Amino acid sequence: MALKSLLLTSLATAGLVVADGLNVRAKAAGKKYFGTEISTTVMNDANANNIAKNSQDFGQYTCENEMKFDALEPSRGTFNYANADRIVAQAQANGMLMRCHNLVWHNQVPSWVTNGHFDNATLISIMKNHIANVVGHYKGKCYAWDVVNEALNEDGTYRTSGSVWGSTIGPAYIPIAFAAAAEADPDAKLYYNDYNCDRAGAKATGAQNLIKMVKQYGAPIHGFGMQGHLTTGQVGSASQYVSNMQAFAALGVEVAFTELDIATPSSNPNFQQQATDYATIVSACKQVDACVGITTWGFTDKYTWISNSDPLPWDSNLQKKPAYTAILNAWGSSPPPSTTTTTAATTTTPPSGGGGNGCTAPHWAQCGGIGYSGCTTCEAPYTCKYSNDWYSQCL
Ligand SMILES: *[C@@H]1O[C@H](CO)[C@@H](O)[C@H](O)[C@H]1NC(C)=O
Repeated sequence: MALKSLLLTSLATAGLVVADGLNVRAKAAGKKYFGTEISTTVMNDANANNIAKNSQDFGQYTCENEMKFDALEPSRGTFNYANADRIVAQAQANGMLMRCHNLVWHNQVPSWVTNGHFDNATLISIMKNHIANVVGHYKGKCYAWDVVNEALNEDGTYRTSGSVWGSTIGPAYIPIAFAAAAEADPDAKLYYNDYNCDRAGAKATGAQNLIKMVKQYGAPIHGFGMQGHLTTGQVGSASQYVSNMQAFAALGVEVAFTELDIATPSSNPNFQQQATDYATIVSACKQVDACVGITTWGFTDKYTWISNSDPLPWDSNLQKKPAYTAILNAWGSSPPPSTTTTTAATTTTPPSGGGGNGCTAPHWAQCGGIGYSGCTTCEAPYTCKYSNDWYSQCL
C-alpha cells in the first residue's frame, strides 16, 4: 500500500472530519439553520443540486413556487403535491428542516379563485379547505409555515386592492387562516411573512399590529418572517435590524430572514459591498436570540427571481463569491474538527453539558450540544438527532 493511501486510510480510521459551512457556523452561533430557497428547476441541474444538498451549508429549504396556492390546488379540490414532495423528500434525506411557503397570498392564486366571484362565506371555506388539505398533507414535516404572505400595503394598512382575500373577506381572513393552520398542524411554527419590514417604519409597525390582531382573535402566531430583499449599498448598519427584530420579539414571536438576497447590478457589480451587506444581516441575526435563522432566496445567480442583479452568494457559474466567505465569518469562527467515532457514539446520547433530569424536550427543540444543559430526551414520537457537536434537535 502506498504511503499516501496508508495515511488516508489511517485518517479515515481515526475519523477526522472537518465539518464547516454556512449552516454549520449558524448552528455553532446558536441558530437553528442557515437555509436556501430551492426549486425543482435547481434539483434538475445536477451541479447546482450538489451544492443545495450539502447540509454543511444548508440546514433548511423553502420551495420557490412548488407550495404556492396555484401549484398545489390548480383546480378546486384537486391537489397536486408531486413537485413539492420532491423537495421535502430531498430535505428529509439530508436532515434539513422545511420552512413551508405559503398558504394565503394575493399572488399566484389560480384564476378559479380570483375570477370565481365567490361571496365571503364561500371564499372563507375555500381558504380553510386549502389550508386543511395542504397543512394536513405536510403535517409533521414543516418546521414553519408562512401562513399569510404580504398582507400589507407600504403604509402598513391591510391590502385590499389586488387581493381576492383582502377585498372579499377583509382583514378577518388573516386570523382565520392562522387558526385553520394551527388546527391542521399544531406543532408547526406559524409565521406572517412580508417584505420592506426589515427595518423600523410604517410597514414594520403594520406587521406588529397584524400580529397583535391575530392574537386578539385568539389564534396562534409564532413567527415573523422578514423577507430581506435588499439592495447592495443600501443595507445600512446591523443595529437597525437588531432593534426592529427586538420590537417583534417583544410581542412574543420568533423572527427569521426568510428570503434574503442583496441585489447589485450585473453591469457594474460591487461584490465586496455585497459581501459586507450580507455580513451585516448575519451579524444582526446573531445578536438577537429570537432570530432563529436565515434563508437566502436561492443560492446561485444562475437561478434568481431578479434578473441582472447577481444577488446571491454563488455566481452563475456556481462558484463562491465574496459574500459566501463574509457570511461564514460573520457567524463566527470555524468549529474545531470532530471525529466520526464521537459522532456515531453521540447519535443517541448527544453531547451535552449535563441536564437530562428526566425532562422531555418538545418537537423541534434542542436536545443536546456542547454547552447545552437542558432536556436531552424528546417527547414521543420524536428522537434526539445529532446535527453537529453544538446542536442536536428533537425530530
Ligand atoms: C366575512 O366573514 C367574516 C367571518 O364571519 C367576518 O369576520 C368578516 O368581517 C366578513 N367580511 C365582510 C367583508 O363582510
